[in-house]
Amino acid sequence: MTQCKYYVPQVDETDCGVAALAMILKAYGSTIPLERLRQLAGTSIQGTTAFGLVETAKQFNFTVQAIQADESLFELDELTFPFIVHVIKNGELPHYYVVTGCQADLILIADPDPGVKSIAMARERFLTEWTGVCLLMAPNQNYAPVIETKRSLLKLFGLLKDQRHQIFTATFYSAFVTLLGIGTAELTQTIIDQAVHLTNYNFLMLIAGAMIITQLANALLSFGRELVVVKLNQQLAQKINLDYIKHVLSLPLNFFQTRKTGEIFSRFDDTGKIVDALAGTSISIFLDLVTALAFGVVLFTKSSGILAIACLIVPLLAGIILGFAKRYNRLLHQELEADAKLTANLIDSLRGIETIKALTLENNTYQQIDTKYQAVLTAGFKFARLELWQQSLKTLFQNLLSTFALIYGATLVMKHQLSVGELMACSTLLTYFMTTLQNLVGLQPKLQNAQVANNRLNEVLLVKPEPTAKITDLTTPFQQLQLQNVGFSHPRQDALLKSLNLTITRGEKIALVGPSGAGKSTFAKLLTNFYQPTEGQILLNQQNTINIDNQALRQLIHYLPQTPALFAGTILENLTMPYATKPSTDQIIWACQMAAIHDEIMALPAGYETILDEQATILSGGQKQRLAIARSLLSPAPVLILDESTSNLDPLTEAKITNNLLSLTDRTIIFIAHRLAVAKKAERILVFANGTIVEQGSHTTLMAQKSLYHDLVTA
Ligand SMILES: Nc1ncnc2c1ncn2[C@@H]1O[C@H](COP(=O)(O)OP(=O)(O)OP(=O)(O)O)[C@@H](O)[C@H]1O
Ligand SMILES: [Mg+2]
Repeated sequence: MTQCKYYVPQVDETDCGVAALAMILKAYGSTIPLERLRQLAGTSIQGTTAFGLVETAKQFNFTVQAIQADESLFELDELTFPFIVHVIKNGELPHYYVVTGCQADLILIADPDPGVKSIAMARERFLTEWTGVCLLMAPNQNYAPVIETKRSLLKLFGLLKDQRHQIFTATFYSAFVTLLGIGTAELTQTIIDQAVHLTNYNFLMLIAGAMIITQLANALLSFGRELVVVKLNQQLAQKINLDYIKHVLSLPLNFFQTRKTGEIFSRFDDTGKIVDALAGTSISIFLDLVTALAFGVVLFTKSSGILAIACLIVPLLAGIILGFAKRYNRLLHQELEADAKLTANLIDSLRGIETIKALTLENNTYQQIDTKYQAVLTAGFKFARLELWQQSLKTLFQNLLSTFALIYGATLVMKHQLSVGELMACSTLLTYFMTTLQNLVGLQPKLQNAQVANNRLNEVLLVKPEPTAKITDLTTPFQQLQLQNVGFSHPRQDALLKSLNLTITRGEKIALVGPSGAGKSTFAKLLTNFYQPTEGQILLNQQNTINIDNQALRQLIHYLPQTPALFAGTILENLTMPYATKPSTDQIIWACQMAAIHDEIMALPAGYETILDEQATILSGGQKQRLAIARSLLSPAPVLILDESTSNLDPLTEAKITNNLLSLTDRTIIFIAHRLAVAKKAERILVFANGTIVEQGSHTTLMAQKSLYHDLVTA
């Protein structure tokens, strides 16, 4: 097996391109987290484009040649390794490899997939996978290595500071358990040497009593210690998990759009591994080390030879762990990945259940899940088999060493250098001693797991939260919103919106129309800082919106998304939940009447107390939309943006709600609408096409112009 010194694993499938680039950078001394490369390269749910990789490499002062090559490339004398190639893996998966070298009929490859890592691939197989696309990269004269660090596992140990009470208590209990262990050994020795030898029944009874008490105390103390350890685990898990969720919630919209929900979800397993390692290590370092020392010292006083034999377990265990490490890591990754894919599939299937049933895709979906589940089982079995092998070998070595130690001890007894009682005591101590050592050596794989888990978690933790801005208190009443030459593009993509110049004043009712995909929802997201303009600026009462705190801005400009969500809870809770100042009953009824939903809510047996699930399955599509409008109307925001909010309603209800909204003179309302009935009533219509405003004016003016708006109306 070939080793690649600058290997970087992908964290999920969409990372393969950036992981390949990270390897090239690492080969030249730069360490850049994948997350940062994802942002620079514009990685999406489909992965990274070769263009994105080329442009990012250039930013790090690399000269890049993107070429379409064939086999003859490998005959070139001046070919510089490593470079990136684009492949189609297993005939279906677009993927990137790093080519690290070539020998005769073999191509040396570093596959970002950690289940594969570095391999020497037969040239023939490589050629069947390779699309011919090749990114040759070398640093130019301006290149200087850049090292951007991540949160290390060590830093996480800082969290243990708050848990010192538990650690101290567990240590305290353990010290007693150790003493009792030593006591049991001593009592065994006394029984054999004193009571049995002298046939003293009374003394035997006394010792037996002492031993029973010792065992009881041991059981109690061990129980107490384990309970403390469970508590410690939970507290750490709570801290790490909640920190992770808090962080995920603070991330920008773009993060969720470029990742699969299942992938975000599966990171929770990772936190479990970190907790396991942290708790395990903290307890073990404090306890097992001291315990092993104590047992070792007592064993030493009895027989240094037996201790020496017992100590052989350390190199043996270390050898087993090292021998298995690579395979262990690979199988662990495979299992994690198979698990993540299954979770993602399950989540997607449940989400799209209506579509699945409508398209009669149940069988198909089941087959997909079945295949993924089989993959999880296969990966799980391989991993469990490896663990069993490892465990069996450990037990075998431990038992063999105990046997050797006892045989050696027996020879000492024969030579009268050790009493039978002492030998029995040594046997008890040996078990304790070796188990403790096993715990200590076993920390290594735990830490190794935690390292992998921490790397995966870091990729999320490193994503910067939505930027926080200084202006949080918007005391002046809303006057106007001004767009000055605003442009926007998603990373590494063509401009989506350009040259937007516009002023929206207080109380205006504006309609935004335009073909599907023209950028209307994107425009709304720019106004509310979900995305930041890549050109120009948006001013709210003369303040640049990027300097305004997101939450403050979103409380002022309320955006009702195209596909709004209702939450699990009662209708009343759904209406009032977002607002710090709870609306009064009158306000709630007013909002529901404005949204033409009040009567239907009252007709439900539990009225406003009706419980909804997160899909609000008991409501019709139009009822959900109207409930969402009512919720938005309860917001005190002076500006409302309603994105296709009446698209599921019949024309009469739509007209009723539109009229109600138009009568709100103190509110600025931007209607994004395909339905021109809404547009007709607005004071001003903005027509979006090709990412910019192509026409604006009233319905009559625009109809007279006979261009796009006219075509949309008369189509
Ligand atoms: N996160 C994203 N990354 C890349 N492209 C995106 C992203 N989100 C949207 N787009 C693209 O931006 C374009 C505009 O999308 P937008 O949702 O703003 O259109 P829209 O005018 O609201 O369309 P519709 O009327 O169908 O709702 C579309 O072509 C879409 O494919
Ligand atoms: Mg839209």
